[in-house]
Amino acid sequence: MIESFAPGKLYIAGEYAVVEAGYPAILVAVDRGITITLKEALDGGSITAAGSKVHWTRIDGEIVLSENNSRLSYILAAMKTIEAYAKEQGKKLGYYHLGVTSQLESEAGEKYGLGSSAAVTVATVKALCKYYGLEISKKELFKLAALANLSINKRGSAGDIAASAYGGWIYYTSFDRDWVLEEVRRKSLTQLLNTPWPNLSIRALLPPKELKLMVGWTGKPASTSKLVAKVDGRKSIDRIAYEKFLYRSKRCVEKMAEAFKKKDIEQIQKQIHVNRKLLVDLEKDLSVAIETPLLTRLYDIALKYDGYAKSSGAGGGDCGIAIFKDDKYLPQVIEEWEKAGIRHLPVNPYYG
Ligand code: PMV
Ligand code: MG
Repeated sequence: MIESFAPGKLYIAGEYAVVEAGYPAILVAVDRGITITLKEALDGGSITAAGSKVHWTRIDGEIVLSENNSRLSYILAAMKTIEAYAKEQGKKLGYYHLGVTSQLESEAGEKYGLGSSAAVTVATVKALCKYYGLEISKKELFKLAALANLSINKRGSAGDIAASAYGGWIYYTSFDRDWVLEEVRRKSLTQLLNTPWPNLSIRALLPPKELKLMVGWTGKPASTSKLVAKVDGRKSIDRIAYEKFLYRSKRCVEKMAEAFKKKDIEQIQKQIHVNRKLLVDLEKDLSVAIETPLLTRLYDIALKYDGYAKSSGAGGGDCGIAIFKDDKYLPQVIEEWEKAGIRHLPVNPYYG
């Protein structure tokens, strides 16, 4: 049996701007994620997730599921991508049973917003590469998972995939998606893995030792794709405001990355504050709900105890993050968050 794990993630800064090619974000992988188990099968495979089982087979070389299931779309996309790559590498395709276990949902099955789609894609790519004996680097893992993801979601920055594939804290700039989508039609996967992707960069960041990351969950799942589509549709309403936002977000993330290098927590906190303000302004300029009232509470409470906080990812619910200089007031923060209806998620950075 093969087992693979991929961590979930949190956005620290740079959300929305990172969707544009070359714009940066900072993310961190967390010690909760998705585990995929793979067992070889003789004839016809299955996928078991959240207690339900779907069978699959190949018809004229195409993987076909026994029932249409949108929840499995990222797994299916990863299977198709890796099988195409395995074929290019001269491997013989087999059948297998996949099992999915997730730590990225609450007991009631609601997503926390910790990047479950990215983690399930990365974990499936890892498991299938092991199964087919394909040795891949972290960069190749990222590219294969990003390609699988791109076949479903054409608007995402794939920052979540970079965090899940690399682990730790990362500085990420998103690749030119139009270029990749064009090249996919012309090049083999092997060629695409061996070609640099315009604007893509992924770099590890080391946080100051004392830095304390806190995560609060609003209990309200948000749809990233809907929020990103809204921003995309409305950015032309005030093009200048949007361009300013992009410019400022980039400057803020660059300063934050520099502060990681210098181990300067106060500067990291300051830039969290700047980024939060940029997102709040973007929300006003484009009338999109990013910082919900509960996320504002999360921010206010953190600030009272010298923590700097903001929504994480697309916002609209999901999680907020806060950064503290030490752990002196964390019990008070947790208590006040809980009173306000914000659940503290005890997650830590994952270095794998
Ligand atoms: O809400 P999340 O954690 O899925 O993050 C979305 C971040 C965006 O920048 C808004 C979109 C993206 O694809 O990067
Ligand atoms: Mg989210």
